Formats: sequence, C-alpha cells, structure tokens
Amino acid sequence: MISIRRARANDVDFLHRLVNDDDVEPFLGGRAALDRESLLREVERSDSEPQDFGRFVIEADGERAGAMGFEVANRRSQIARLERLAVQPAFRGRGIADEAARQFQRHVLLDLGYHRLELEIYAFNERALAHAERAGFVREGVKRKAYLRHGDRVDAVMFALLREDLAE
Ligand SMILES: CC(C)(COP(=O)(O)OP(=O)(O)OC[C@H]1O[C@@H](n2cnc3c(N)ncnc32)[C@H](O)[C@@H]1OP(=O)(O)O)[C@@H](O)C(=O)NCCC(=O)NCCS
Repeated sequence: MISIRRARANDVDFLHRLVNDDDVEPFLGGRAALDRESLLREVERSDSEPQDFGRFVIEADGERAGAMGFEVANRRSQIARLERLAVQPAFRGRGIADEAARQFQRHVLLDLGYHRLELEIYAFNERALAHAERAGFVREGVKRKAYLRHGDRVDAVMFALLREDLAE
C-alpha cells in the first residue's frame, strides 16, 4: 500500500540520504536543499505553513520509499509548484511514484484548494518525463536552455494539472 504524509523532524536523516543519492541529486533543481539543516528548516516550514509549503514522505507498506513537495507559486490565482519528487532507487519500477503523485494531486487541489499545479522537469530526465505523463500531468511546453546545470544550459519541460482535469 502506498501512502503520503507530511514529513517530520525524524525523517530528516532519510531525506538527507535520499536527496544526496547519486541517482537523485543530478535530477533535482539546482536550488534543492541538500544539507541536514536546510532540510530540517523545510520540514519545519511545512509544519508551520501547511497551506503554502509542503514536504511529504512517500511510504510503501509503512516503509519510507521517497519524498515530494510543493510551494505556493501564486496565491491570488491559486497556483502551486510541485517539486523535489524522488523515489529511492530500491523502490523504483513498481509505480510508487505514479500512485503517490495521484494522491498528492488530490491533496493539493482538493484538500488545500489550489486550482493549478505546475512542475518542470529537465528535458534529459526521461524517467521523470514518462512518470509525469503517466500520472496525468499535461505537457504545456519547453523552456529552452533555461537552467545552468553542472555547467550546461538545459531545457526544462513544463507540465500542469488543473482541478477540472482530475478524474472523478
Ligand atoms: C522520477 C522518479 C520518481 C520516477 O520513479 P520511477 O521508478 O522511475 O517510476 P515508477 O516507480 O513509477 O516506475 C516506473 C516503471 O515501473 C513500471 N511499473 C511497474 N508496475 C507499475 C504499476 N503498478 N504502475 C505503474 N507503473 C508500473 C512502469 O511501467 C515503469 O516502467 P518503464 O520505465 O519500463 O515504463 C524516479 O525515477 C526518481 O526518483 N528519479 C530521480 C529524481 C527525479 O528525477 N525526480 C524528478 C525531478 S523533476
């Protein structure tokens, strides 16, 4: 069984190992928190500003398998930006990210009341692009050579999901 929950202070060691994994870090945004102190600050913010900011742990049969997050991007227009999705390599290939993303979409759109979710994926990240399509996000375009990543300017593919896109 796959479930998601808000991250807690005692998840910081897990999050620290996850985001620094060689098969995770290169795919995260260049501003991602990587050290324990920054990760703890994010978990605390998720707790104190739950409407604007979220850090979540994905569990598979009660075991920590991955993480995901969001941040308010535009309060007036109710847009949230999704970020920092990662599944531990040992848990991949079972559809855990897809199921967790579907739960997360419903939570942020229906429980928190956002209207639109946005996310960006580096164009070289084929696994994440395939995941976003499977999870129902709609591809809206490409930001050409948008970000400097490890010395190269890389394209980013933009996806979004509207509340009315959710399957009933
Ligand atoms: C992006 C990421 C979370 C996606 O996870 P993933 O393991 O690749 O995806 P899943 O766990 O959903 O597994 C997908 C594969 O399992 C298969 N699968 C098996 N059972 C499945 C099921 N019940 N449901 C869906 N897919 C299933 C899929 O068909 C797919 O196989 P394919 O690659 O041959 O098409 C993961 O690759 C990751 O953490 N990457 C590093 C960090 C990252 O890129 N984050 C995104 C930043 S934008």
